This record gives sequence, structure tokens and C-alpha cells, in this order.
Amino acid sequence: VRRHRLAHVPVSAKMRLGFHDDDLAEDCARAVEAGGADELVVHARTKAHGYKPPAYWERIADIKAAVRLPVVANGEIWNVDDARRCVAVSGCTDIMLGRGIVADPGLALAILFDQGLPTGGSAEPDWSSLQPLLGYFWQLILANVEPRARTGRMKQWLNYMRRRHPEAQEAYMQIRTLTDSRLVDPIVKSWCEGAPPCATQTQSASTISED
Ligand SMILES: Cc1cc2nc3c(=O)[nH]c(=O)nc-3n(C[C@H](O)[C@H](O)[C@H](O)COP(=O)(O)O)c2cc1C
Repeated sequence: VRRHRLAHVPVSAKMRLGFHDDDLAEDCARAVEAGGADELVVHARTKAHGYKPPAYWERIADIKAAVRLPVVANGEIWNVDDARRCVAVSGCTDIMLGRGIVADPGLALAILFDQGLPTGGSAEPDWSSLQPLLGYFWQLILANVEPRARTGRMKQWLNYMRRRHPEAQEAYMQIRTLTDSRLVDPIVKSWCEGAPPCATQTQSASTISED
């Protein structure tokens, strides 16, 4: 990738700590550096750990000490407090959010605000400003996801968001038992009533094909 990249296009790489164990983590990071990457993101778990907490942010500090390229910390950052602790333990000033920002789309802004960094004047989104995004997400699902997987995708996002937004729990319960996207469609529309981007972007139920 490094040899064939366009000029001035940065190449970033991402790694876990290892597969079965983290013994080779530093060696892998050095290899990434020697391969010419400009930046390295470290998801602070092995493949064997899956997504099981905790994330081993202290191992990111070890990796950071072993290479010169910028290292970005990733794993198990769900809120402002996690971000603070991850920065402190890993020694990284840059972090990557995964499921945390799916659960709370305002998390990046909250972290910037907490760290006294510029937020571009944006406020953290409340539920009413997230509702149009649910409509837009549903539109993307209808266009791109096979019928039998559609309602599952919407449930998956709501399932994450209910960690942070109680309204997502209510929305989740409304569609929990439904598997037919034609039945879910009017419910999604009802969530974003009065929110123009959602109302205009959502297909009508009669045009949704289930096959
Ligand atoms: C919606 C979503 C999409 C992701 N896509 C990728 C991807 O394309 N490549 C990748 O290496 N990791 C991907 N990940 C994994 C994350 O980058 C991250 O390493 C992982 O979720 C651990 O961070 P977390 O504990 O904060 O979720 C994705 C995660 C989520 C939630």
C-alpha cells in the first residue's frame, strides 16, 4: 500500500494486541512502522478476547514506547470518563471510538468539550436531533440490506443507543418482535414526525419490497 499510495495520502494501520496472546504486540507494531505506515491504531485486545471487557490500554503504552509513529488508542471507550482514563493509561492524545459512538453519537463532542478542545460550535445531540438520523439510517437499510436482515439492523442500533438514551429503549420495544420491514416502516416514520429530512427520505410502505 505504501509503495502504491497516491502522493500525500497518509496510510494508517490498525492492529489488535495479537491473536491468542499479546506476546508479539510490540514486534507487530514495529513491523507496521517498518512497512511505512504513517499512523497506527491499536485495539487493546487480542482476537481471542473478542469484544469482552476490559481493553488493555496499558499495553498501548508499551507499544507507543516501542515505535516512533503516532499511536491511536482504541477499545472500550463508552463515555467521557473512559476517554480520560484511556488517555491517561495509554499515554495517547488521539483515541478512536468504536461502539461507544454508535451508542452515543454525541460522544466525540462530549469528549472534546471535556478536554477543553474546540467542538466547532456543535452541541451534543439530544434525542430529537437523533430521530431524523434514524429515518435516514432506515432509508439506507431499505436501499442496501436484504429484506430478512433489515429490522435486525435497526434493532441493533437502537440496542446500542438504549445504553445512553432512554427514548431508544422505547423505540426498541416498539419494533422488538417485528421482522417485516413493511410493518416497521410506519413506526420509523412516526419517530421522526415533524423532522423534514426523515419524513421525505423514508420510502412509503407500499413501495417496500420484501423479496
Ligand atoms: C459499526 C462498526 C464498524 C466497524 N468497522 C471496522 C472496520 O471496518 N475495520 C476495523 O478494523 N474495525 C472496525 N470496527 C471495530 C472498531 O474499529 C474497534 O476496533 C472495535 O469496535 C473496538 O472498539 P470499541 O470497544 O470502542 O467498540 C468497527 C466497529 C463498529 C462498531
